[in-house]
Amino acid sequence: MRAKARAHTNIALIKYWGKRDEKLFLPTNNSLSMTLDQFYTETVVEFNPDLKQDKFILDGIEMNPEETAKVSRFMDKIRRYTGQSHYALIDSINHVPTAAGFASSASGYAALAAAAMKASGVSFSENELSIMARQGSGSASRSIYGGFVEWQKGEKEDGSDCYAVPILEQGAWDLRVLSVEVTHEVKKVLSREGMKRTVETSPFFAGWLEAVAEDLVEAKAAIAKRDFIHLGETLERNALRMHATTLGANPPFMYWQSSTVKVMEAVQALRENGIHAYFTIDAGPNVKVVCQPEDEEQILDALSELDVVQNIYRCKVGPGVSYLEG
Ligand code: ADP
Ligand code: DP6
Ligand code: CO
Repeated sequence: MRAKARAHTNIALIKYWGKRDEKLFLPTNNSLSMTLDQFYTETVVEFNPDLKQDKFILDGIEMNPEETAKVSRFMDKIRRYTGQSHYALIDSINHVPTAAGFASSASGYAALAAAAMKASGVSFSENELSIMARQGSGSASRSIYGGFVEWQKGEKEDGSDCYAVPILEQGAWDLRVLSVEVTHEVKKVLSREGMKRTVETSPFFAGWLEAVAEDLVEAKAAIAKRDFIHLGETLERNALRMHATTLGANPPFMYWQSSTVKVMEAVQALRENGIHAYFTIDAGPNVKVVCQPEDEEQILDALSELDVVQNIYRCKVGPGVSYLEG
């Protein structure tokens, strides 16, 4: 009736941006990510017959009714799937900034899905776990696995073929991600609202769908050959294409701040000096710089000099979900 799980965040190299079914979290396109070793969530789930409702504690603080209701709706899906009937105490710690564009929803829902499935006592496959995590937050479907991961959009209406699959294990390619924090403020437009508004109103969304399919083919070919420059060019282009769709939305919005652009320019300047660094940006102003181990120090030094940079986290390729004692 009780279990604890840890899941790491992931950074999308090819972005998930758009849902074809909001209820089931079915995406409009496949996406591809790298799991990160530095950022993770640990969550305990305990089903308890004495509880009259779910209770959600995050970072030691009992969450408000709105946040609790969100998690409770997810727990209802777990209960329906596993046949578990009791409410649960959910106690979670984020070793990642929450709702600031560092993918806390990915590690958060992957850890919650894993702990809840385990605590329910049923046996389950990794596909089933990815499908459950997906229904808390789409990007969480990918955090079940370490290494490089593809989330397949699937064809079926019930979402039973919509899950992530590992494409390269953790130790297979040593890439680095410098996660550059320019602010840890909570974002104004959550990923969920942002992608919804874009799908519904941006005339650029059709162009995104065409482009992302091509970018995915390129990225997978680059990963298979361990061709870093090919992957870097592809992932940077894909991030810019995603962000371009938000400018066409109504009302339009933008996740970048002036500090974001400063970091992007610094990465471009590094490249002009022959250093292989490429950036990607999620739904927030912070920038992630992808590089190879031999260039990491030099890139770190250059970015540390920018006055807009608050913090730089050095990430390697991370592991998949694990289950813990306690
Ligand atoms: P992020 O960039 O951090 O993924 P999102 O807007 O995608 O930002 O998601 C943030 C939301 O994810 C939070 O508002 C909260 O509802 C949910 N979340 C974050 N961490 C956890 C956690 N440990 N357990 C459950 N839900 C979480
Ligand atoms: C830009 O998975 O956070 O980071 O499914 O609505 O919870 P919901 O959204 P979320 O979206 C992530 C969007 C992104 C790109 C990505 O991670 O693929
Ligand atoms: Co998220």
